[in-house]
Amino acid sequence: MTTHIITIDGPSGSGKGTLAAKIAAHYQYHLLDSGALYRLLGLALAKENRLDTLTDVENLKVCIEIAESLDIGFTPTEQGVRVVLNGEDVTKLIRTEQVGEYASKVAVVQELRQALLSRQYAFAQAPGLVADGRDMGTVVFPNAIAKIYLTASAKSRATRRYNQLQGMGVDAKISAILANIEARDKRDTEREVAPLKPASDAYVIDSSELTIDEVFQTMKQYIDSLLA
Ligand code: DC
Repeated sequence: MTTHIITIDGPSGSGKGTLAAKIAAHYQYHLLDSGALYRLLGLALAKENRLDTLTDVENLKVCIEIAESLDIGFTPTEQGVRVVLNGEDVTKLIRTEQVGEYASKVAVVQELRQALLSRQYAFAQAPGLVADGRDMGTVVFPNAIAKIYLTASAKSRATRRYNQLQGMGVDAKISAILANIEARDKRDTEREVAPLKPASDAYVIDSSELTIDEVFQTMKQYIDSLLA
């Protein structure tokens, strides 16, 4: 049986995670949230105080071993995917800004990216996989049947994040959120290893002016045309 792979890459705040989950549910495919892997590894390494010395060869060796033997679990539930690290439920913890920072330290180290590769390949199972990340279509699954690059202007992503924080009762300044997003975009697109960019054969969707449902329909049409 063929395993169809659909990749969805793009910057954070583009709506990637939500859309990847919706597309996976629609086609009844498996779902890979590769960012969660980077977050889990970041958390595991931070717990052992190993994140600030990744340039040390001996430390990096141990970190690679930790990456290759990470004890993690992803369990779909009604409320979303439950994430477990070494027996501990870290579903909420890995979404914090702090763990996002840990993940971004992991993300710039080629050897650690490499160590996470086989784990990502393991998600590719019949009937299909929706892989969400930054380098899914360019590096991890270059032969994917459908590659989508979902983006949105920094301003609209900042507004979405602001509304999300407001909804959670968290006070924030939109100008600070925007500055943060612009700095992160610059880091992600200019980094040497696996920089964030659309694959040459990716279908680019700008979600700035679109609702989630509009993006979903656009993606579905594109995927259906390739699966037909
Ligand atoms: O999508 P996210 O915010 O959960 O990703 C967390 C971090 O991992 C972020 O710094 C980008 C990085 N990442 C990556 O480099 N490659 C991926 N395929 C997924 C995430």
